[in-house]
Parts: sequence; structure tokens; C-alpha cells
Amino acid sequence: MEGEDWIYSEKVKDHFMKPRNFLFGDESQFDANAVGQVGNPICGDQMKMYLKIENNKIVDVRWKTYGCASAIASTSALSELVKGKTLDEALKISAKDIDDYLGNLPKHKFHCSVLGHEALEDAVNKYRFTPEK
Ligand code: FES
Repeated sequence: MEGEDWIYSEKVKDHFMKPRNFLFGDESQFDANAVGQVGNPICGDQMKMYLKIENNKIVDVRWKTYGCASAIASTSALSELVKGKTLDEALKISAKDIDDYLGNLPKHKFHCSVLGHEALEDAVNKYRFTPEK
């Protein structure tokens, strides 16, 4: 059907309209010990992710973006999926897992789901390679 590629699932719309774990206000309001930031070369959108890590587990997370609706919904979903996971478990969550969780993004928006994951990877890498925590 023509235009079908633009249809968002109810879950995508819900996460876009009510993003989970979004950082409202400035960064000082969340006590992160790992921060990652990336840009999407396809569209120029930006994502920043803040993690609170204890005993190798992600105990809390916040994020901010200059991103599209699909990036917001995807990162909202990712932020729910990573809570309570070890760093290795969290890094194994794929763009496909996020897409499945949301009930599928339109195909041409699938690339948006990698933005949050790349910010997560950046935060974890910085955490792992920072001597003092
Ligand atoms: S269009 Fe840029 S992340 Fe979706």
C-alpha cells in the first residue's frame, strides 16, 4: 500500500509522545558516572546518553537528543531495556531488538534506532577506559 512506509506503530507513538528517562533540564540534575555522545552522519542528528553504573550494572539512565521522532522513540525504548543490565548485556541490545520492541519502525527510519545505541557504546567505552570512577 502506498504510504505504508510512513506508518508508526502505537508503541513508537507512545514512546515519542512520552519518552522514558528523558533528561529534562540541565545535566547537573542527573548524577551520571558515564556520558556518551554521537552524531548520525546520515542526517546530522545528535544524541547524548548519561549512565549511572554501579558494580558493572546500569542502575539508571537519562538521555537528550536533537533527533527525529524515531530516534526519540528508539532511545526511549533502549533506556528501558538497559536498566538493570550489565554493561556487556546492554551492549548486546541491537537495533533489531529495539525495532522488535517497538513493533517495527518504518524501514527508512531504521537507521535512527542506532543513534541511542552508539551513544550507549560511547558512554560505556569512556567509563571502561577512565582510570578513576
Ligand atoms: S532522521 Fe536523524 S536520527 Fe532519525
